[in-house]
Amino acid sequence: MLKPPEQPYTGLQCTQCHRFFPQEGPLGRCPKCQGLLDTVLDETVLSNYSKRQLENDARSMWNFHMFLPVRAGTIPVTAGEGNTPLRPVRSYPHLHNVWVKDETRNPTGTFKDRGASLAVTSLSQLRVGKLALASEGNAGCSFALYSQMAGMSCHVYVPSDANIAKVELSKKLGAQVTKVKGTISEAGRRAAKVAERTGAYNASTFVTPFRHDGKGTIALEICRQLGWESPDYIVYPVGGGVGLVGMWKMFKILQRLGWIRTRPQIVAVQPRGCAPIVDAYNNGRTEVEEWKSPKTIANGLKIPKPLAGKWILKSLRESRGLGLKVSDAQIHKTMLEVAKRDGLLVEPSSAAAFAAIPQLYSTGAIDKKDSVIVIATGSGVKSLEQF
Ligand SMILES: Cc1ncc(COP(=O)(O)O)c(C=O)c1O
Ligand SMILES: [Zn+2]
Repeated sequence: MLKPPEQPYTGLQCTQCHRFFPQEGPLGRCPKCQGLLDTVLDETVLSNYSKRQLENDARSMWNFHMFLPVRAGTIPVTAGEGNTPLRPVRSYPHLHNVWVKDETRNPTGTFKDRGASLAVTSLSQLRVGKLALASEGNAGCSFALYSQMAGMSCHVYVPSDANIAKVELSKKLGAQVTKVKGTISEAGRRAAKVAERTGAYNASTFVTPFRHDGKGTIALEICRQLGWESPDYIVYPVGGGVGLVGMWKMFKILQRLGWIRTRPQIVAVQPRGCAPIVDAYNNGRTEVEEWKSPKTIANGLKIPKPLAGKWILKSLRESRGLGLKVSDAQIHKTMLEVAKRDGLLVEPSSAAAFAAIPQLYSTGAIDKKDSVIVIATGSGVKSLEQF
């Protein structure tokens, strides 16, 4: 049970028309304009909490329940997600200030567990009993786990080239899985149609506003692990942008609360064969154009037109971030190096972020003294066929 003083969560606000919706029914996109919704916290209530309270109490991401869109008295649907290690990376011997936030330690091996634990908790409070979502595979596993813990049904739509272990694990955990020909965009359209027809709640990326704050807890944990300091850079492999938007939101809140002095610059990494965000950002655009014929081994980053494109670009601009591209060959080579030197078994989507590190330094974009945290978003256990 989440303890008082009070939960600061007040409701949802549209990122497009800015209408506010007090917490009531299980909303998805804005009922007025179809814009994406963000959750709103009353920061006066939040400031009643102290960072000191959080230091000796680190069991899961739910230690940070006051930052999450749930009511007082909520019982989280949790499998111990979050509270993952932050440790130095050895793969770059001449660089001494590179760290990894090891999200492979989560229950189903990826940071998606954070978003799913939060979404299922929020949605079960709102009496949702049936979920549908599109996923390249990892979110499917996460939602399969948490939905069955909460007694909800879950139907996952994956592209037909999804990693076999992701499909099998989702099924074993009790989800129904349907393969859809094409990319995640086609899978997304199928999930939306089925949700409309059957009354299932569509829990796809940013169709629901209840996932990104879960991934945002990565930022909260990093700052706590650094003794309430911000790192200089966060290196993040961008697909749908859930983690980027969520983390950036939390860094801003922490700074406004006065818990950290500075904020990091976010480095967005995408594969050369599908880089709609990096290209839009580096060309100074505020909207993302659809990437034609995406091709990459990084399945989780094969998102030709992220729904939250504008929001991701705004977050990157605010953080004075950087956008970098890496080739599939670099991703594959790095995946093996990181596995052997650091004992970090990551999948291609996650290896992409590590692959950008040499480029980050060689272009002079950052200094060797700067602290850099790479988010190891997903374990390679579910994609061994790609090693
Ligand atoms: C391992 C891994 N890394 C990164 C991403 C991209 O995440 P986001 O949608 O938060 O940008 C995904 C998404 O599927 C993923 O599975
Ligand atoms: Zn709206």
